[in-house]
Amino acid sequence: MRTDQPVTIRRLDYQVPAYLVDTVELDIALDSERTIVEAKLGIRRNPASTAPRMLVLDGEALEFILATLDGQPVTPVIADNRFTLADVPDSFTLVTVSANKPSANTTLSGLFMSKNGFFTQCEAEGFRRITYFPDRPDVMARYRVRLSADKARYPVLLGNGNLLEQGELPGGRHYAVWDDPFLKPSYLFALVAADLVCEEQTITTNTGRTALLQVWVENGDLDKTHHAMESLINSIRWDEQRFGLELDLDRFMIVAVSDFNMGAMENKGLNIFNTKFVLANPQVATDIDFANVESVVGHEYFHNWTGNRVTCRDWFQLSLKEGLTVFRDQEFSMDMIAAAAPNAAVAASGKAVKRIDDVRTLRAAQFPEDAGPMSHPIRPDEYQEINNFYTATVYEKGSEIIRMQQTILGRDGFRRGMDEYFRRHDGQAVTCDDFVAAMEAANAHLGETADLSLFRRWYSQSGTPVLSAEREWDGNTGRLTITLSQHTAPSVSQPVKLPLHIPVVIGLLGADGADLPLRLDGESGPAPTERVLHLKEAKQSFTFTGLPAGEAMPVPSLLRGFSAPVVLDHDLRVEELAFLMAHDSDAFNRWEAGQQLMLSVIHARLRGEDAGLQTSALVEAMHRTLEADLDPAFVEVALTLPDEAYIAETLDVVDAPAIARVRDELKRQVATGLEDSLRARYTALGVALAAAGEYRPDPASAGRRGLRNLCLRYLTEIEGDGLQLAREQYAAATNMTDRFAALTALAHAGAATAELADFFQRYENEALVLDKWFTLQSTAARVPDGSSQPFVLHVLGLLKHAAFNLRNPNRARSVILQFCMNNPRHFHADDGSGYQLWAEYVLRLDSLNPQIAARLARSMDRWRRHTPERQARMREALQRVADKPELSPDVREIVGKALG
Ligand code: ARG
Ligand code: ZN
Repeated sequence: MRTDQPVTIRRLDYQVPAYLVDTVELDIALDSERTIVEAKLGIRRNPASTAPRMLVLDGEALEFILATLDGQPVTPVIADNRFTLADVPDSFTLVTVSANKPSANTTLSGLFMSKNGFFTQCEAEGFRRITYFPDRPDVMARYRVRLSADKARYPVLLGNGNLLEQGELPGGRHYAVWDDPFLKPSYLFALVAADLVCEEQTITTNTGRTALLQVWVENGDLDKTHHAMESLINSIRWDEQRFGLELDLDRFMIVAVSDFNMGAMENKGLNIFNTKFVLANPQVATDIDFANVESVVGHEYFHNWTGNRVTCRDWFQLSLKEGLTVFRDQEFSMDMIAAAAPNAAVAASGKAVKRIDDVRTLRAAQFPEDAGPMSHPIRPDEYQEINNFYTATVYEKGSEIIRMQQTILGRDGFRRGMDEYFRRHDGQAVTCDDFVAAMEAANAHLGETADLSLFRRWYSQSGTPVLSAEREWDGNTGRLTITLSQHTAPSVSQPVKLPLHIPVVIGLLGADGADLPLRLDGESGPAPTERVLHLKEAKQSFTFTGLPAGEAMPVPSLLRGFSAPVVLDHDLRVEELAFLMAHDSDAFNRWEAGQQLMLSVIHARLRGEDAGLQTSALVEAMHRTLEADLDPAFVEVALTLPDEAYIAETLDVVDAPAIARVRDELKRQVATGLEDSLRARYTALGVALAAAGEYRPDPASAGRRGLRNLCLRYLTEIEGDGLQLAREQYAAATNMTDRFAALTALAHAGAATAELADFFQRYENEALVLDKWFTLQSTAARVPDGSSQPFVLHVLGLLKHAAFNLRNPNRARSVILQFCMNNPRHFHADDGSGYQLWAEYVLRLDSLNPQIAARLARSMDRWRRHTPERQARMREALQRVADKPELSPDVREIVGKALG
């Protein structure tokens, strides 16, 4: 639907459906030019509805052919993507026949074609592009579907649930009938008809049921399915153990498709995945790709309970399933890392590294979103286009809100709450409030701790709170008072922000660096060395007693493990940060202290100060970290400077190229200061990895490779043998992680012409690897040969490359989105050329695929924070897009809010 009048949908306008659908029988005759869908719906009036007796179905881009009600022809009114039939009975069978054209569907929503067949994507509102239906998640029905298609071209026919029968048809066609025994909302419907092959395996669940697991891919990709299969089995086992949740189907399928708008989709029993999150082997995938496959396979599998068995009442509740499922996949990845560790210390460090990665994502993506024009609570109050709300806020901040409930209730309490949630709501479409109510009810015996009434505000209030801490130390009596206060900046839709319930995990370090016992004033008995402070008011003081009198003030370690999604405005001195960096028993906060030190140097330099002393203190501290006997994966994150997006968020006025310059300078200084240690570590890790034998993507070896490649990266920042080492590593690499890391180091140094050409030739036929090749060049600090060619010309060259294809979302993202979102120094070029490119491609993409166009559009969200000259040019580009009369509602909403 294209319109100039944006329509806003509001959460509080929710009405129960007027009619319910109990059964859905579909007969889908697949044809690229004209697919015919016959739908037989068993419909009845919803006793809970008081709406007029009028049946309203959604339908989009459909050709209406005919309809009958209880066998009698009827004539619906079809207008504005609605099918309306007045005066329907209380209970009836409606049959509709409609047609659609998959080959023309470039939106990749509904039924579409990818090179080797037919695929679907129905979340959020794609089912209405397949047939007329009340396309909303609170209408749950039983589905049976008969698929038919040309047998030679589409030999595999897949649907949700169980395969009932299949057979031949005249004219070279064949059919299959699939039946899903579970009630489901229409957004979980899926079908696949394609030329595919699979890896399969049967497993036995914890109660002894057997299930068939399949990973379906294109012919030629069977050498890349193993890791996905292993991840699926691990996911099934983990959900049994951690949450007592069992696979409920006889068959669970994963299908990889190369044209896909998102990462993956949890359709019941038939998950459809972007190839990027299925295909992996050491030759084509990096350690990070391996970890991502595991995490996304887990995420989609975990949706089978959190999303499918219990689903969302309406789309405002999206975080009910997404925040919870992200939390579950994060916990799964952590537990997998811990399980692979040789001892408890390595397990703890590995878990902290995963937590650090997740927090970096939150800070780089969600914090800016929550401070910009698209700021919304994890349960939004309104939207124009729901597809625009599959955001870092709903997903990643949503996960933090779940994590805080676990912190408040404890792991056992949280598990009790989950059990209660399924006991109450299995088979239902419910709300975020229902989830919190189950958590509370299951933990009522804990008294005040389980009172989440104030905590609920996290669901309704947007913005990132700033948490400030002040300290008062009485050295004579050993009393330390910590005063915590919170403030959330007003936003357009919420001018007044209220205090939230913030769980602040805290420790206190004594002079020797060890944790001190934490006894609050008035308490007696044993004192823990770490505890949760519950900040519930704008300002609250907590006094600890019995601390070593006559000594210096203990150093507080606040917000351990990042116990709440807030900005911590600390008052720690540089020496205290260095102390925490060296001694904090919480690995997350050891890392965080280092990041804060780095930030303070970067800030000083951006102000034009030379910050020499601070820089040497930082370089020394980094040196100690590199030389210490620590988990390599931790050393890698600890030696990585804060990324440009996070630095930008800590500033009032953003000069993106200046941030990149200052960050580069600091990187060179670190490299110079640590040069010998970096080279020694690079060599030693190389020897250790070679001795360990064949490549494996396990956390320990991935950690070693990660640190070794970071050393390489630093060494290529300075004069010396860095480039030589990188060239050697590129040529000698036996896995994609090392080869791509070497190529990356060369590309950022502007010395990659030969290797980029070689890489292209080697992987010409590996689409996902070519995506990396495009991404690297679009996000590089320099053009490949290091010349002074304007960077945007290089990007234009990539867009004209024979292997570039705007219709393939992965490829489109690899150049245009990557450049606009992840290359701030060149995107914000002084002449505004980046912004012009942005406008042109938002418009081009919008006529093909509004969801991808709207994602790209969001790279201008924070335009008001840039320097005045850049702001003017950005506004011009935004206006150019806004002035286009025919815009999708998706892009219209984003640019409207940005300019509004
Ligand atoms: N439910 C899917 C997942 O997170 C993502 C669906 C995204 N849909 C969309 N319209 N953007 O696993
Ligand atoms: Zn999800």
